[in-house]
This record gives sequence, C-alpha cells and structure tokens, in this order.
Amino acid sequence: MCGIIGYSGYRACLHVLLEGLEKLEYRGYDSAGVAVLAAEGIQARKAQGRLSALEKLLETSPLPAADCGIGHTRWATHGAPSDRNSHPHCTPHLAVVHNGIVENYAALRTELKRQGVEFITETDTEVLAQLLESCYQRTGEPLAALQAMAARVEGSYGLAVLFCDRPGQVYLARRHSPLIVGYGEKECFVASDIPALLPYTKEYAVLDEEEMALLDHGRVEVYDPQGRPVEKEHLTAQLPAQAADKGSWPHFMLKEIFEQPQVLQDTLSTYVADDLPNLAPALPDKLLQNLGTVHLVGCGTAMHACMVGKTAIESLARVPAQVEVASEFRYRDPILLPGDLVVTVSQSGETSDTLAALQLAKERGIPTLAIVNVPGSSLARAADMVLYTQAGPEIAVASTKAYSVQLAVLYLIAIRMAWARKALPDARCRQLTRALCAIPAMQQPLLGKAEEMKMAAQALQNASDLFFVGRGMDYSLSLEGSLKLKEISYIHSEAYAAGELKHGTISLVTDGTPIVALATQSAVYEKTLSNVKEARARGARVLLLCSQNAPVPDALADEVVRLPQCEELLTPLLTILPLQLLAYYASVLRGCDVDRPRNLAKSVTVE
Ligand code: G6P
Repeated sequence: MCGIIGYSGYRACLHVLLEGLEKLEYRGYDSAGVAVLAAEGIQARKAQGRLSALEKLLETSPLPAADCGIGHTRWATHGAPSDRNSHPHCTPHLAVVHNGIVENYAALRTELKRQGVEFITETDTEVLAQLLESCYQRTGEPLAALQAMAARVEGSYGLAVLFCDRPGQVYLARRHSPLIVGYGEKECFVASDIPALLPYTKEYAVLDEEEMALLDHGRVEVYDPQGRPVEKEHLTAQLPAQAADKGSWPHFMLKEIFEQPQVLQDTLSTYVADDLPNLAPALPDKLLQNLGTVHLVGCGTAMHACMVGKTAIESLARVPAQVEVASEFRYRDPILLPGDLVVTVSQSGETSDTLAALQLAKERGIPTLAIVNVPGSSLARAADMVLYTQAGPEIAVASTKAYSVQLAVLYLIAIRMAWARKALPDARCRQLTRALCAIPAMQQPLLGKAEEMKMAAQALQNASDLFFVGRGMDYSLSLEGSLKLKEISYIHSEAYAAGELKHGTISLVTDGTPIVALATQSAVYEKTLSNVKEARARGARVLLLCSQNAPVPDALADEVVRLPQCEELLTPLLTILPLQLLAYYASVLRGCDVDRPRNLAKSVTVE
C-alpha cells in the first residue's frame, strides 16, 4: 500500500526520494509524488500512474535543488487515483505525505470549511494537511502543531511533513502506521519500509505509537506524545542491500519462487536442534502443554497457511485449532477461553486486520504468538511471543516464499506441541522433524518442472473460468493455488473441496473447462479421483497433481504432475511449487504485470 520516503542531509534529495520510491513500488500504488523544501519554498510534483510518469513530469517541470524532501506512493482509498489526489498535499505553510486513514475526516472537513478553508480534493489526507496547517498557524511550532493535530484525529497515520519556514527539516508522526528512521553520516531518512533505506544505511530505529520526530541533516530527535525527548534503540538491518534487488530474474515473483528451498532451509535451521523443533524461549513447552484451543488468524495467503497449520496441529497434537480470517475475527466477538492461544500469521507484520485481531486477543487476556517475516514490524512488536520466518524481503505482491516458511513454522509448532504433550512418541516427533528438514532438497527438482508448468499454463491461458479441487490439505492448497492465479493472471477461478463440486458448481463444467485437481493424500485419493471423473465425464480438461507412485487411470487427466514421495502431512510444501509456477506463467503468457497486479497492495494497512 502507500509508501513514504523522506530525506534531510547533504545530497540533492530528489535522487534519494525517487530511489526510495522505486524500492517501495512493490507495496502497490496508483500514483506518486515528491515535494522538496528549497530556498524558493516548498514545491511539489505528482502524477497518476507508475513512477515513470512522475519522472517524465520532473523532466518537463524540474524541481529546484534541495537538501530535504518527502515522497509518496499512493494506493487510493478516499478519492480516485489522480494527479490531484496524489500526495504530497500542500497548504500555505506545509506539505504532507500520509499513510493511513483519517476516520473522522468528514467531520473535520465540515469544521474546517466553516472556518473558511477551501478543499480541492475529496481525500482524507487533504483534511489532515489543512488541520495541521490550522494548528501550525495557531501554535507557530511544528511539534506543538503535530500534537494539536493528533488530539483531533481519529484513525491512523504515518506522516512526513515539510514546514516552509523550517529549512532542511522533515517532521514525522506515527499512529498505527509504521515509520522507520534511518541514520547516516550528516544525513537521515524516513521510510515506511526498510528496503527504501538500504541503499544508504542499515542503521535504523522504529518509531513507536504516537511518537513524533524531527530529521535535521545528521540529527534525529524523537519525542513522546507529550513532547519529551525519547532515546531510541538503534537497530541494524540484517539484509544485504541487494536482497531486495531483482538481479537477472525477469520478475521478483520467479526469483522468490526459486528462493524457496534456501529460505525454507534458513527457517528450519533457525528452529531445529537435535532433530526436534526448538522454539523456546519464544514459545515455551509449558504453554503448549496446557493449551485449550489454538486460533490461527491471518489474511490472504497467510490465512491459507493457517489452514494447513490447523490440520497439522490437530492431527499431530490432537489440540483443537480454528482458522479465522482476521477481518472477520476482529468483529465477530469470538469465544476466547483461558488456556487458548491466538496465533497471528503475517508476512509483513503490518496487515491492519491481523493487527486488530491480535489486539482483540490481548484485550481479552489471551496469549498471542506472531509468526512474522519482518523484524520490528508492528505485529512482531505487539505480540507476546514472536517466531520469525526467514524469507528475507518478499517484493512481488503475490506471496510465495513467505507462504512456504509460514507452513514450516506451523509444522514445527505442531510437532513440538505433539512432543511436549506426549501426543506422539519422541521417536515419531524426531522422524517428522527430519522429514521436514529433508523438504528443501526435494523442492529443488520440482522447480525443474518450470517448463512443464509453462506448458500447463499455455493450455489454460485463454480460459475464462477454472476450478481447483482437492480434499483435506489439498483443499487448502487449492484455495492458495486459485488465489495465486486470480491475483496475477486475472483468470477467474474457484477452489472447491472436491466432494462439494457435485453440489452445485459442477453445473458450470462444460466441454474444455480446466480443472486443476490436487490428489496428494492417500486416505482420500480414490475419493478425489471419483470427483475428478465426474467432472471429466462433463468434458473437463484436467491437470492432476499427485504423488510419484499414485496409480492414475488412463484418460483421467490431460496432464499429470508428479510430486516426490514424502511424509504425506508435509506434501503442501511440495504441491505449492507447481501451483505458484502455473500462476506465474499464466500471468506472463497473458502479458500481465506479474509483480504488481492491478488494484492489489503488498501490505494492506487499511481495514
Ligand atoms: C495482501 C497481499 C497478500 C497477502 C495478504 C496478507 O492482500 O496482497 O499477498 O497474503 O495481504 O499479508 P501479510 O503481510 O499479513 O501476510
């Protein structure tokens, strides 16, 4: 979603801003803009569309040289994507870039209008800028103005502001929307996300809730909500600067699909010792031994990972587990009992609904565990316990490698739970852990099936609808395979529990309707094949994914993709690769923007 960059230092800031915005492109956006504070005052340029549109505008309408400035990529919420609605929003004395949503913007707008303020957009951010302008006119001091503004605003904001009479300075404020300050030599930065800082510095601090800050060349001052200075802990980004680079890969998504054996290996080696999951001190055995229900909560792909986690936890540890869509969980007054555990799963750690679900659990006094990929993210900071996945930066909007490592951590939790509760013998737990550690090596040859999946994608690239079907864990994988395809190729598809197809949706199957059938689980293999046959009899074109040795009747499928034989419960870590490749090639063949699909955002910071 929206991205923020800001700079104060000795360099010509425009270059830093544009480079930062480029690093933030992956979050998803529909317009971009920059403002600089030069001797001539504040000047801004903004343009709807990709960053290249802004760059073009800057060629015909250049900005003056300046040592401080702010930039933004906008993902429209209030008001359509347009030049005018883009950030920065400028008022007589200041320019603002904003991530988040002002919930009481309509009331504030009416109030400001009554005071004679004229609005030129429908956006909530313009209201915020005008409110800050009026606070600044009253207080004459940036921090006091930000404090006065904070007292009136309901909602969320990460803000970077230039005040026209504060040369060289950028002011910041945070509420429920992350801001990261980067420290350099005689220069400093702000960004909504670490990758934007990496070309310049690895040293950073995360602003806490309600904090404000001032960037002034090499000087960073952070203040609490009462305006008292705060000492921040300096952190070091562990990522190499090139971690967020595409290198020679045609797309980030393909790079990230191929990184899966490595990041899975990295995650497993972090949490496995002596053939057992080693999750303490983050997740103590005592807690696992006395569990009631495990509530697994996430959005999108992370929620699909939760579904596999539920099966693993229930079948290995025999502990009841529920999967919840975060946006539903937070508003449905869930039954949470003493002894329960709420596990939130998120790549970014910034997903608004997932964060709210975690807060709800905390308010109810239920212990919370976050499985998250981004260190220092809001979710990681808010949870009682954190297990980090080791996927490294995931840039493509469609999540791939983050899913694999989320599965890995959920499997580890399930195995450790079974071990701590003696639900399985020690030897079986170690055997399962070893089997999990063997998966990265098994993923590698599957990636070699890229050409095969490209051909499978060719066969369905012109379809208007298709189905993914499977039973049990294969149903969970069907949902994820279908989501991947929809997200990036815009082909409509539905995922169905294979046995459910005949209860209505089979009416849509006609001659040539593509069906991707997942049949990796021996206990329901024959049942799934029966359902596939039912569809086949109505003319379906079938792509079947099954294990190496599964007997496939003649003429059941047009294509068969064989998966290496492994511990059955762990098959999702293999099944997912061909599904991701299928979606990837379908997107490429249809000429879509693979890494930045329309309307989608990587990190969804609004509800
Ligand atoms: C967005 C992304 C999805 C992602 C979901 C949850 O919708 O486009 O790819 O699965 O958010 O994100 P999270 O960062 O919480 O895993």
